[in-house]
Amino acid sequence: MLNIVPLAQLPFSQACENNKQPILSLLIEWFAQSNHVLEVGSGTGQHSVHFATHLTHLHWQPSDQLAYLPNLKARLAHFSLRNLADPVVLDVSQSWPKLASQVDAIFSANTLHIMSKPLVEAFFAGCDQVLANEGCVAVYGPFNYVGQYTSASNQQFDDWLKQQNPHCGIRDIEWITSLAKQHDLHLQQDVAMPANNRMLYFTR
Ligand SMILES: C[S@@+](CC[C@H](N)C(=O)[O-])C[C@H]1O[C@@H](n2cnc3c(N)ncnc32)[C@H](O)[C@@H]1O
Repeated sequence: MLNIVPLAQLPFSQACENNKQPILSLLIEWFAQSNHVLEVGSGTGQHSVHFATHLTHLHWQPSDQLAYLPNLKARLAHFSLRNLADPVVLDVSQSWPKLASQVDAIFSANTLHIMSKPLVEAFFAGCDQVLANEGCVAVYGPFNYVGQYTSASNQQFDDWLKQQNPHCGIRDIEWITSLAKQHDLHLQQDVAMPANNRMLYFTR
């Protein structure tokens, strides 16, 4: 018998609860023509469940580093959504997993400030490799403009991040867009989100 871990015992992100609806309102439009979405760094899986529930035309593929998989799987086991796949191991610095279907959209939230700069480079290189020719990429999180914070709270958050790990840090949008461009991904929209975050949307 499947051993179901109670939801209350699993990692939970209040930030995910707060941002999932504003993010969904953009994905409804940006992923309207997409079929197969790969989510990089799914974390608790709260986003995966919410977006698969509301974007029923999509096949949603969650992923994360190996250490995150047990809790991620445990949350998803509570939801029987036909369009939500079993999570796969994906560390952007390793070979990306071979998926049954060609990915035509990639989503990642709150990951680019957690990854070191070489890992952010690996993220875009990986997107380039797995993404269909007409594909798109949407990333959510805090970003800077030419080294300037968009709020005092983001500066405090960045200081805290760097104390945890000096390789972490809020990235400049200019660096992210030039990196994406090297992989034939072009910034189409940069949308202000609640709590001083942004959503960036790239297409081929
Ligand atoms: C702050 S959490 C965000 C989780 C979730 N997307 C959210 O918005 O709550 C950062 C995520 O980045 C993932 N991550 C960090 N380094 C990674 C790497 N090298 N490859 C893939 N994912 C990575 C972590 O495993 C974690 O799930």
